[in-house]
Amino acid sequence: MEKFVINGPTVLHGDVTIAGAKNVALKAIVTSLLTDDEIILHNMPHIRDVLLMLDVVKSLGAHVTIEGNTIRIQDGHTKDTIVPLEIGARLRTSSMVLGPMLSRYGNATIPNPGGCRIGARPIDRHIEGLKRMGATIDYDSKDGYFHAHAQHLHGAQISFLKNTHTGTETLILGAVLADGTTVLKNAAEEVEIDDLIALLTAMGANITRSGNREITIVGVPKLHGAQYTIMSDRNEEATFAIAALTTKGDITVHHSQRHNMKAFLEAFEKAGGVYKMIDDTTTEYFYDKPIQPVDIVTGSHPGFMTDWQAPWALLMTQATGVSTIHETVFENRFLYVEELRKMGANISYFDPNVEHPEAFYNFNWEDRIKGTHQGISITGPTKLHNAILSMNDLRAGATVVLAAMLAIGQSSIYGVEQIDRGYEQIDTRLAALGASIEWIEEDEIV
Ligand code: EPU
Repeated sequence: MEKFVINGPTVLHGDVTIAGAKNVALKAIVTSLLTDDEIILHNMPHIRDVLLMLDVVKSLGAHVTIEGNTIRIQDGHTKDTIVPLEIGARLRTSSMVLGPMLSRYGNATIPNPGGCRIGARPIDRHIEGLKRMGATIDYDSKDGYFHAHAQHLHGAQISFLKNTHTGTETLILGAVLADGTTVLKNAAEEVEIDDLIALLTAMGANITRSGNREITIVGVPKLHGAQYTIMSDRNEEATFAIAALTTKGDITVHHSQRHNMKAFLEAFEKAGGVYKMIDDTTTEYFYDKPIQPVDIVTGSHPGFMTDWQAPWALLMTQATGVSTIHETVFENRFLYVEELRKMGANISYFDPNVEHPEAFYNFNWEDRIKGTHQGISITGPTKLHNAILSMNDLRAGATVVLAAMLAIGQSSIYGVEQIDRGYEQIDTRLAALGASIEWIEEDEIV
């Protein structure tokens, strides 16, 4: 086990450059399976999930070279269409190889995908869509694999019953080389999807956002290599913006994505935070006045993203009054609450009054876990104190790290590998902003 040791409280000041977006980087790696040519990806974040995803494409025969933040991937000639269990099960996006493998090789065998423990996170919407495009896909509970086959993927009209970010991307990745035209209705609108579309377009794909929540993909016979610089990470930016406010500091963010963070910035300003647009891609976030409570309901783009609600809850522990968060996308994304409570936070659960929960929530209502809640109520302000903490998922990890920087005393946080999945060198970058944070490796822990 590895841990962070953090001494608080700290005021964070200075400049930070936002890394490449994890939720584009992982899918950009999958695009390499769509062509024999080399794909050159710039601004790729140095994070654990990217290394895991590279292992997935390497297990299928791809050759990978990493030079700083540039990754070159070339699909190999010897083709294996099976993703080994020990590689694929560690990462939910490993299932996204299904589309490219089916359209190019007619077969794919992938383990039931893993990822953050923020809910059941099935891939039924992805599977259903690929079946509509001509694939047969069976899950074998004896070996834990999805077995997929297709003579040819063909275009189809597919209407998602509910929003799905990676489901939309999986079907785009399946449709780009399919025979004919695919129209995705009720497609997700997250901007990371548009970045993936831009990369695929640079490779020769024919994809348009053809209407409100509609994407049209005209299949092409072949894609070619491309160089692409992926967008920076909105979730990292929101984390640093909140850190500026909770620590009563001032952080200037380079490679800013503020144009794609409208819902966040509205809430940030309501809470009393200030941001200054230095230039098109530089934003300064700072504390100015006592923090105000703001109620949040998470949603798909352009709403307040579910990825922002965990650090937001920490911010609300510092607000004067009561605020609420209603999580509508995932059914188990309050794993950090117990950790914040250990530090003295006053947070209670509640069940929001929802008339038709099966239709209202983004997750499949039947997947909900007994005893979990979709709402929390936070009463502040609270002076947090140090604690021994653990990280249960990526965003929960970032939240407890920010909490420890705010708390009085020394905190130890276990489960560093969770935050390392999605935040590049978070300890080094926070230290450069003034945090007292040390990453202690396993063999140093006695
Ligand atoms: N869902 C299903 N069946 C499906 C697909 C989705 O039940 O076939 C459920 C999910 O379990 C979830 C909801 O529908 O409850 C929404 O899922 P969606 O597919 O939109 O989310 P995702 O693709 O699993 C991506 C990001 C998440 C981000 C969400 C929302 C990646 C790799 N992950 O997840 O990022 O929170 O979209 O924008 O792109 C993170 O970065 O920490 C993270 C979890």
